[in-house]
Amino acid sequence: MTNRGENLTAAVVYESMFGNCEKVARQIAAGMATGVPVKVVDVADAVADPSLLDDVDLVVAGGPTHSMSMSRPGTRAEAVQRSGGTVPARNVGLREWCVALPDHAEGTGPRWVTTFDTRTALGRAIPSSASRAAARIITRKGYEMLVPLKSFLVEDAAGPLVDGHMEQAYVWGESIAAALRAKAPLTV
Ligand SMILES: Cc1cc2nc3c(=O)[nH]c(=O)nc-3n(C[C@H](O)[C@H](O)[C@H](O)COP(=O)(O)O)c2cc1C
Repeated sequence: MTNRGENLTAAVVYESMFGNCEKVARQIAAGMATGVPVKVVDVADAVADPSLLDDVDLVVAGGPTHSMSMSRPGTRAEAVQRSGGTVPARNVGLREWCVALPDHAEGTGPRWVTTFDTRTALGRAIPSSASRAAARIITRKGYEMLVPLKSFLVEDAAGPLVDGHMEQAYVWGESIAAALRAKAPLTV
């Protein structure tokens, strides 16, 4: 029998304040799971223990778009404030993970990456986003984008996701798994 992708594995790493990006991350992972083994990791855990990603070939990393980029300590504090304190404070986000990531040449972890974000429908005309900012940092470190980055839209800062975007996340996940499996050497 001929197989592809038997040994390739992936992780979805996410940051989320209001919960929308986490929902998208889990939906992407569900789509990916149709083709490759995948785990879902909170970015705070990935920063605390980088070895969590040592055994994966691909990382799909995402977070909310704050001020046209990845979150910063100040924007995360603003999110907590805007929620009236119902959203828990976060010390680290996608930006801190990207910055802490070793150069690909030095690391033992993934070879491929791609990035995603959530952002409001109002900002859709503006190309700047968390996924774009994250991809810029990660690719400079020598990681290869497996598929182009993607944004998912929320109605407002707290959500919900725009109709159809959860479904898009699943389909995107399926396409990522197919792209990863195509990278695997054929085994007979
Ligand atoms: C401080 C702050 C700044 C934001 N800036 C932007 C922005 O520049 N563009 C945009 O489309 N959405 C912006 N948003 C909306 C967020 O993208 C939205 O809250 C996020 O995608 C929801 O994801 P989450 O539920 O995972 O936190 C901002 C939200 C906050 C709290």
